[in-house]
Amino acid sequence: MSAFIVLGAQWGDEGKGKMTDYLAEGADVVVRFQGGNNAGHTVEVGDKKYKLHLIPSGVLYKNKLNVIGNGVVLDPKAMFEELDYLKNLGVTVTEDNLIVSDRAHLIMPYHKALDLAKEKARGKNDIGTTGKGIGPCYTDKAERCGIRVCDLLHKDVFKERLKENIEAKNQVLTKIYGLDELNFDEIYEEYLIYAEKLRPYVKDISVRVYNEIKAGKNVLFEGAQGNLLDIDYGTYPYVTSSNTIAGGVSIGAGIGPNLIDSAVGIAKAYTTRVGKGPFPTELLDEMGEHIRTVGHEYGVTTGRARRCGWLDIVILKSAARVSGLTSFAVTKIDTLAGIEKVKMCVGYEFNGEVIDYFPASLEDLALCKPIYEEFDGWDSSVETAKTYEELPKNAKIYLKRIEELTDTKISIVSVGPRRDQTIVVSEI
Ligand code: GDP
Ligand code: IMO
Ligand code: MG
Repeated sequence: MSAFIVLGAQWGDEGKGKMTDYLAEGADVVVRFQGGNNAGHTVEVGDKKYKLHLIPSGVLYKNKLNVIGNGVVLDPKAMFEELDYLKNLGVTVTEDNLIVSDRAHLIMPYHKALDLAKEKARGKNDIGTTGKGIGPCYTDKAERCGIRVCDLLHKDVFKERLKENIEAKNQVLTKIYGLDELNFDEIYEEYLIYAEKLRPYVKDISVRVYNEIKAGKNVLFEGAQGNLLDIDYGTYPYVTSSNTIAGGVSIGAGIGPNLIDSAVGIAKAYTTRVGKGPFPTELLDEMGEHIRTVGHEYGVTTGRARRCGWLDIVILKSAARVSGLTSFAVTKIDTLAGIEKVKMCVGYEFNGEVIDYFPASLEDLALCKPIYEEFDGWDSSVETAKTYEELPKNAKIYLKRIEELTDTKISIVSVGPRRDQTIVVSEI
């Protein structure tokens, strides 16, 4: 029996899609447990590139069960568009290989409208959200006025909930943000169509995932976003609205923590972030531009240029601690090839002391100065290495140092975007 988690260890876009796809070969079930279509997970198989947002990355294999958990916020329009996109690429998804939680909350048109309106109203203090309605949907969940998948399937319940919500949200949209009202009938009719399309997929996913684990099946939990976008442990308020850390699995898939065997943190060999918020090792110079160009660091969901910086061990230590990581998978080591001197932040200087934890207060974080170690670089032969031994010596020194400083082993090294550019070092 094995249940394991794949998590982003930084600010998202670490290569979770690639690693989930790789590890899914040995899994029977792949579960998304938080977030929504704010995620953008890229998987390259042969000469084909797939961009997934809401659908679990296990979908590219035949005979795997894919699960959208109760912790996910689900935009049905986006879901069916993604299923069409996959169909056009020859990937068939039916109720036999995808199930959706009856408890997942629905993203409604007013959530998207509010997301955009709130961002605009924040002005220069905007978060830089993806505009997919994620925050307002989780707000309604906590406020207890959200609409769940199971509510949508009951026409009368849905009608009542939608009426209440439209009335309340129209007040906010018109009176606070000066926007047009949303039309109840239009949304009601549109969502009734989704209800019937969604119905065959809907299940109690906690029961199903539990039974799969008990039956000795391998279950992979695919995280979205990353450690520092977690609503509790991230760079609040510059975070997403869900728990992206390992604890999110228990809540977002209805599975007790004792059933989880391992958690692998996906870490890029450097750091990126998309959207606003602090970033201690950010490179605003030519080196940052170089990494962005070589690493193709542009968002999958919004197309925005990703901010780039050196690897930050303080972040990785925090990820290892809060998620109980059993190992790291380090990706994009090839992107750093050709750089003469590669830097790694090993701690922060803060008020005359050296700290190795991530401060909660953004004001304190602003005072932190990264302390760097410098490493001799490596060449592009890293891209073709098939084993750990074949990696250039200096790349191995860099990787060893990550293990030493985080006190966590590296189980996988990724040397390129394709499935076959993956080196397994040990069990995850
Ligand atoms: P995710 O959100 O964590 O799934 O990551 P994204 O898909 O948003 O961004 C990661 C990008 O890096 C994608 O374009 C991947 O195809 C690519 N990628 C993943 N691993 C590697 C690697 O080891 N080397 C290179 N060069 N690209 C990689
Ligand atoms: P994957 O799964 C990187 C960021 C947004 C913004 C903040 C809040 O591909 O790693 P939201 O729309 O969630 O309210 O935006 O979170 N963000 C991501 N950044 N990768 C992601 O997903 C992200 N999902 C959200 O840019 O800063
Ligand atoms: Mg991404």
